Amino acid sequence: MATAIAHPNFALIKYWGKADSRLNVPAAGSISLTVDKLTTKTTINFNAHLKADAVWLNGKQLENPELTRLRSFLDLIREVAGESRRAEVVSSNNFPNAAGVASSSSGFAALSLAASSAIGLRLTSGELSTIARRGSGSAARSIYGGFVELVAGDRADGRDSIAKPIADEKFWPLSILIAITSFEFKKTGSTNGMNLTSETSPYYSAWVESTRQDLPEMRAAIEARNFTKVGELMEHSCLKMHGAMLSARPGLIYWNAGTLEIIEAIKDLRKQGHEAYFTIDAGPQVKILCRDLTKPAVLEALDGCSKVAEIIDAKPGPGAFVLED
Ligand code: DP6
Repeated sequence: MATAIAHPNFALIKYWGKADSRLNVPAAGSISLTVDKLTTKTTINFNAHLKADAVWLNGKQLENPELTRLRSFLDLIREVAGESRRAEVVSSNNFPNAAGVASSSSGFAALSLAASSAIGLRLTSGELSTIARRGSGSAARSIYGGFVELVAGDRADGRDSIAKPIADEKFWPLSILIAITSFEFKKTGSTNGMNLTSETSPYYSAWVESTRQDLPEMRAAIEARNFTKVGELMEHSCLKMHGAMLSARPGLIYWNAGTLEIIEAIKDLRKQGHEAYFTIDAGPQVKILCRDLTKPAVLEALDGCSKVAEIIDAKPGPGAFVLED
């Protein structure tokens, strides 16, 4: 039995498309920032008397299709460890599920760590990230804190598609404000959405190719603590990804009126000299990156947005860890 904690991350350079769906290898690398305030806590108990894996998420027992995804993921860990026992998993998030707040990133990171540590697998963080990646691409990045890159790799077996730390959570204590505009479940999950985009969008290959070029620029901007560059590249990657999503057939529109209201408010703030940048994932929530001194101006601007339901005030957070009892 073991319990692990992981925090979600949001991507500065987005991952949206796979080179190999079965091995869940991304088509291009991505760069993210792990967030401190949001937490997934997962306890796993392998038990020889259990006939099948059972999973509880936020107090509710999981059913298909999510249960099947979780069971195949546990099969993968069992295979690596030579383990045959089934498991009971109890997991809870302190934030909304499946609404574009990256619950799968912290979910699969916490589960990978809890499961491997319960079984007694001794893995490096890099090895752990490749297992987490099989659950969800973004989860590989939540193994580490701070700024993290998930490398696409070149190998056909995906083994070199691994997360690597760029700078830890203390390196650059920026502010992250997450504006929630809806608590509804997203209509198209990330996996289906990115597969639809890669199969139907005429912009998909340009999206993948240009993302490869954005990666070294973002890495350099983070290392130089060049906030303007990080912010501009982050917004560009976000809008470019949403451009590819919009051009899928049928088009994927993850934004709502509240999302657009916030985008306008952030652009207005910049015109007034307050430097802040937005990014949006596969949902209507908006993540805003700013320096601490700009946070009051951003909060005031969000206060003026009629469709903001909640604001999460966060900082860069640590990587996944095991809770010792
Ligand atoms: C828009 O990691 O959830 O948040 O690997 O299919 O589980 P799967 O996808 P997932 O996709 C995340 C997409 C994104 C961008 C990002 O986090 O890079």
